[in-house]
Amino acid sequence: MITVKTIAELQQALLEHRQTGKTIGFVPTMGNLHQGHLSLVDKAKEMSDVVVVSLFVNPTQFGPNEDFDSYPRTFDADCEKLLNHDTDIVFAPSVEEVYPGFSDNPARPNLTSVHVADLGQDHCGASRPGHFDGVTTIVTKLFNMVRPDIAIFGQKDFQQLAIIRRMVQDLNMPVTIIGAPILREANGLAMSSRNGYLSQEQKDHAAGIQRVLQWAKEQLANHKLSFDQVEQSAVNQLTEQGFRVDYFNIANADTLQVAETSDKNLVILAAAFLGKVRLIDNVTLTL
Ligand code: PAJ
Repeated sequence: MITVKTIAELQQALLEHRQTGKTIGFVPTMGNLHQGHLSLVDKAKEMSDVVVVSLFVNPTQFGPNEDFDSYPRTFDADCEKLLNHDTDIVFAPSVEEVYPGFSDNPARPNLTSVHVADLGQDHCGASRPGHFDGVTTIVTKLFNMVRPDIAIFGQKDFQQLAIIRRMVQDLNMPVTIIGAPILREANGLAMSSRNGYLSQEQKDHAAGIQRVLQWAKEQLANHKLSFDQVEQSAVNQLTEQGFRVDYFNIANADTLQVAETSDKNLVILAAAFLGKVRLIDNVTLTL
């Protein structure tokens, strides 16, 4: 495994692999790696010859009152985990390497950005304005730096995955996007770097989101309640459990629009705060 910090070093390291016809699998991350991230690395290794993992906390996808400064940066521990998962290249650039204009204009270091209409409007897009433009722009930049054959993204960030798939399709990006299942703690809580902000007691509490999502899925599968009734009851349950609910939405899994009763592929998307920590999770179902 080698670790590179500049785009020039990255491209030098990839040159030999490209020349010998090896396929490149890419896992973009913001670091502070857990088993969920590592499952994506394992999938990349299964599906390609050379695995590149990026560790980069992307400033442009954080809102002004979000946790960019305090987001956990654990470079040494991340490299150790990646070494045990057969990673070939770790790409850990500085903010200035990725956004040369950052020190002059931290609010808008790029004049160009990638915007995917409609899919980014609701759910996390509604509560985090500009977030998905930051994600699609950094993912485009990283794709241009790495030029992978495949890239792996987790279904944990369901809306992010849908937006990236659409961006790749719309802009004819020469990469295949692979979605990977959500890894969970034993209590059902979806693994997340932000779980590190929670005490053990809060982690047990936070698993309530997954239980309410499962409850909602059962109601829909059994056609017991209307979509509105399920959403309303789920919000009430989470609020009673002490969460501040950001959203709890039943959506069409392909368009991410409000679900119609005729829709077959559904996703139930939830975001809720436990104290100051914002947690997201989702479940899919086919009716
Ligand atoms: P980050 O939150 O570090 O997540 C990196 C990848 O890991 C994403 O594709 C995410 O969906 C996946 N992931 C996170 N938790 C997971 C879990 N419990 N099970 C399976 N996969 C999981 O998502 C980002 O970074 C950024 O937005 C990024 C795409 C890197 C752009 O900056």
